[in-house]
Amino acid sequence: MPEELRGLAPAKINLTLEVGETRPDGYHDLSSILQTLALADEVALRPASAPAMEVTGPFADGVPTDAANLAWRAVDALAEALGRDPEPLRIRVDKRIPAAGGLGGGASDAATVLRLLARRWPGVTESALATAAAAVGSDEPFFLAGGTALAEGRGERVTPLPDLPEHGVVLFIPPATLPNKTATLFRALDRDGQVEGATVSTALAKRLPVRVTGADLYNSFERVAFDCFPGLAELWEALEERTGEAIRLAGAGPTLFWIGPPDGAARVARAAAGLDCAGIATATAGSLWRR
Ligand code: C5P
Repeated sequence: MPEELRGLAPAKINLTLEVGETRPDGYHDLSSILQTLALADEVALRPASAPAMEVTGPFADGVPTDAANLAWRAVDALAEALGRDPEPLRIRVDKRIPAAGGLGGGASDAATVLRLLARRWPGVTESALATAAAAVGSDEPFFLAGGTALAEGRGERVTPLPDLPEHGVVLFIPPATLPNKTATLFRALDRDGQVEGATVSTALAKRLPVRVTGADLYNSFERVAFDCFPGLAELWEALEERTGEAIRLAGAGPTLFWIGPPDGAARVARAAAGLDCAGIATATAGSLWRR
C-alpha cells in the first residue's frame, strides 16, 4: 500500500444553470451543464495517528482544516456508506482554485478524496461512492467523473455528455465574499420568484459537442448575484466593455469567466489589468476519472 496517494481535483464552471422549484426538502430542482477545467487543486492522503488536514497554496487563506471542510467529511461519508470505521488520515490540499468563488473547489477536493479512498479501501463500489458523494454536497456527484455532464435534481443526478472540444477559459476573481454564499444566493432567487425549467440546458446538451461562447450560456444566479456582491456589476461591465465579449458568472459566483477559442485566452486575460480582480487563464479539460 503506497504511503501517500495523490490526485488532482479540477475546478468547474456551469455552462448552463437553470434553477427551478423549491422542493419539500428545501433544496431547489436544477438543470445544469457542468464542465471541468484544467485549473486543479492537488490532494494527497496519507495514514496518520489521528485525522488531520493541511491546506497550502495561493488560495489557502480561510479554508477550514477540520470537519467543516468537505474533503474531511468525505472520509466519514464513505466509511458510513460502507458500514466501516473511518481510517485516520492526513489530508493535504494544495489550493490553486480560489475558494468559495463558484468554481466547486471544495466539492472537487472531496470527490478526489473519495476516488483516492476507492484505491485504498477494499470493496468500494460505484454505488457507495455515489451515496457518499450525495451526502457530502450537491456538486459532489458531478466531480466523481467530471468532464462535461448534465446535473439534475438537486445536482445529484448526473448524466455524462460528449466532451466539449477544448476551449480557453479566463477566470476573473473579485475580492467579494458572502457568508453562507450558496444558500444566500438560492434565497435571493426565491425572493425574486421566477422559476425556470430546463430549456437552455436541454437544447445545449442535444447540440454537444459544439464550440460555445458566453453568449450561448445561461445562469439563473446572474439575476441576483449583481445585487448580492458589491462591485460585481461594475466589474462585469468593465470586462464586457474591454473584451467585447459575453462574460458569465461561475456557479453562484462571484467569479466571472470568459470562454472561447483557446488562442483567445491571453488577450482576454489582459482585460483584468488594473481592475479589482485576479485573472487566471486556463482551459476546459475532460474527465480524469470517467471509466
Ligand atoms: O448541497 P450543498 O451543501 O452544496 O448546498 C448548499 C446550500 O445551497 C443548501 O443548504 C441549500 O440551501 C442550497 N441548495 C439548494 N438547491 C440545490 C443545491 C443547494 O437550495 N440544488
